[in-house]
Amino acid sequence: MSRPSVPSVFSLLGGLLLSLWLAAAAPEELGEKQLEVSKADLEELLDDLLEFLRIKEPANPYVTGDDGDVQLNAALSTAIKNVRESDEHLSVLNATFPLASFDFPDCEASYPAKEDAEGTFEKVLDEGILEIGLSIISDPTEPGSVGAYYVAVNELILPELSREYGVDIKANYTIIDNTEDFFLQFREALNDETVDAITFFSVTEERSQSVDYTSCAIVNFVNEVGVWVEEDSELATVDVTEDPSSLDGKSVGVCPGCFFIDDFVAVTQELGLEVTLVEIPITELVDELRAGTVDAVATILTNGPGFSLFEAADDVVKLEGSFVLGDDTRAAVTRFAGPDRRR
Ligand SMILES: *[C@@H]1O[C@H](CO)[C@@H](O)[C@H](O)[C@H]1NC(C)=O
Ligand SMILES: *[C@@H]1O[C@H](CO)[C@@H](O)[C@H](O)[C@H]1NC(C)=O
Repeated sequence: MSRPSVPSVFSLLGGLLLSLWLAAAAPEELGEKQLEVSKADLEELLDDLLEFLRIKEPANPYVTGDDGDVQLNAALSTAIKNVRESDEHLSVLNATFPLASFDFPDCEASYPAKEDAEGTFEKVLDEGILEIGLSIISDPTEPGSVGAYYVAVNELILPELSREYGVDIKANYTIIDNTEDFFLQFREALNDETVDAITFFSVTEERSQSVDYTSCAIVNFVNEVGVWVEEDSELATVDVTEDPSSLDGKSVGVCPGCFFIDDFVAVTQELGLEVTLVEIPITELVDELRAGTVDAVATILTNGPGFSLFEAADDVVKLEGSFVLGDDTRAAVTRFAGPDRRR
């Protein structure tokens, strides 16, 4: 929907006031029909006003970041844009996500002026510290892990920011325990100001209702979901690409609140399968598989949540093949401030 112009909002408002005034002047003529029309007008006016003010209605609970959060988002985005095609980045990207594309989605970003810095961004420039949240699920000290990749990317971005602003900016990491829900605990850490930014996180439409993704993504690839079962399972010899129907009527454990769940459901439904996805904390997925709570467990093949645990379990095997889902685009995240919320 295009943004209504100022005159159109005011003419609607004027029209509504006029009809209310006419109704008040002749109350005995105010029929049912007229009332309905007025209500529709009112709703349209409200929609237009909200659109005019560009208020994004976020999922609850959310917080409203300040201009400084918007500035931080823009600064991170610009730094990402400047480093993502560097050889240093492409080589660590390739090593961590072999399926990643080297073509990044277009984006626009520019550095906010230092003298305009306020709120969170001013704090970061003053203190020289960016509080960054990382997931507990991927140990950043483990070479080759997703967490290690994210830290390596931050070590490219922060010097870039430091150069731009003439301030030495370092990361202070907080490990976020997001085993219960992959997303909500990250959002909470932003909301309660434990962290200023999350690096990095898969972009989904739903999440972008209550956190702000940077416009420039750092990772972009097509997701594939792999499936693991106990080695003595009747499914153990199945190739899910060739014979996805062998999962029909089965239950599959997945990480709670994970970004690929909706796409996975959509793909299995397109294939006409009834697969019951059961959300289970990541550290308990293998145990619940062994206990028979679910027939299989699944995650995305590029080091998805739980991947290393499934691979490490001796009595668990990965089925041949995969389910191909949509794009996985990852970007940095800051506190929700909506687009241009304050003017
Ligand atoms: C990615 O890494 C593999 C080796 O792991 C290499 O063969 C391939 O050429 C690399 N791709 C690019 C585009 O650098
Ligand atoms: C780093 O973050 C922790 C919280 O995770 C906080 O207690 C500590 O004060 C921070 N350190 C600095 C130097 O800001």
